[in-house]
Amino acid sequence: MAFETTLPGRYFYDPEIFAREQSCLFGQMWTCVGRADALPNAGDFQTAEFAGESVLIVRGRDDELRAFLNVCRHRGARLSLEPCGNTGPAIQCVYHAWSYALDGRLIGAPNIARDESLDRDNLGLVPVHLQVWEGLIWLSLADDPPPVTAQLEPALLDRFGELEKFERYGVGSLAVGKSITYEIDANWKLVVENFMECYHCAPIHPELTSLLPEFRQGTSYQGIVGQGTAFADEIDAFTLSGQGERAMLPGLLPSDARLYYGFVLWPNLFVNLLPDHVILHTLTPLGPERSRVVCDWLFTPEEIARPGFDPADTVAVFDITNRQDWDVCERTQLGMRSRAFVNGGLYVTNEQHIAGFRDLVLERLGERV
Ligand code: FES
Ligand SMILES: [Fe+2]
Repeated sequence: MAFETTLPGRYFYDPEIFAREQSCLFGQMWTCVGRADALPNAGDFQTAEFAGESVLIVRGRDDELRAFLNVCRHRGARLSLEPCGNTGPAIQCVYHAWSYALDGRLIGAPNIARDESLDRDNLGLVPVHLQVWEGLIWLSLADDPPPVTAQLEPALLDRFGELEKFERYGVGSLAVGKSITYEIDANWKLVVENFMECYHCAPIHPELTSLLPEFRQGTSYQGIVGQGTAFADEIDAFTLSGQGERAMLPGLLPSDARLYYGFVLWPNLFVNLLPDHVILHTLTPLGPERSRVVCDWLFTPEEIARPGFDPADTVAVFDITNRQDWDVCERTQLGMRSRAFVNGGLYVTNEQHIAGFRDLVLERLGERV
């Protein structure tokens, strides 16, 4: 069998390709940009870098989350430079003090008489499609996007063969017990490709493979449809020490007790399901050779509220694993400009499925598949 080939090196550093990915791939797919529970109150906002735009996400007085391009309609000033905060009763531009309601309507433009022909109705903030799925905020810049589930459910069916197995983890009912943000000197696609394969697990992840010994075979994180990866016989919990007795997530079955499931929801969310917690990696491309990953460790709110809650032993497993992964992504980035990689490399047997991601990128860029 001939091996599939990777993208050529330039796809991992060329600013022109990066810009096209931002508009044609991220700009047309639903992309995860954060958590709905980070914005509990009216006026709470966060900004997100998404598809080459800055987007302002705000909770309205009616409790709805909305997203807008973070641009004042008057002369184009960026409305918020802050990553998060509270707008107060309105979103006000600092430049000439135009103000917008939390639903985006223009409600104030100082020193312009009512009889001057300012078309206030058409000068509201430019909306961006927003949907919440499993507690996560997803954005789309497509004109008329299908529901976010139309993008995500086929991927879940590919992984599980059914939706129920994923749904019983109740990801949307969980809360963040620990969050770590990483910045990586590597193209975002290297980070996705790395997460999709476990051929590298034996060489670089001794801690992870001691908990999940099947990964020493190099088979993919994604595994076989519907199958999880079994814990090592000698461990009690998915912690660095292998010890722990946190209660299972409430919806799970006894058969879920000692299994790990990992998978990618393209374009930018990595999901890790465990019996007593869930880990989500949200990836943001910052530039052709720089990426950010926010890693959230989720537990039930009851577990987080428990006196003495301490996730350190749990967090250590994937914090160590993440750093090992980012290290090899950065090392790979260093090779992308070499003449040795002008025509790319190859995916071996345990990595063949990554060709599906390569093809998604090419298809969205309007190139050959
Ligand atoms: S640019 Fe915002 S009010 Fe003028
Ligand atoms: Fe890894």
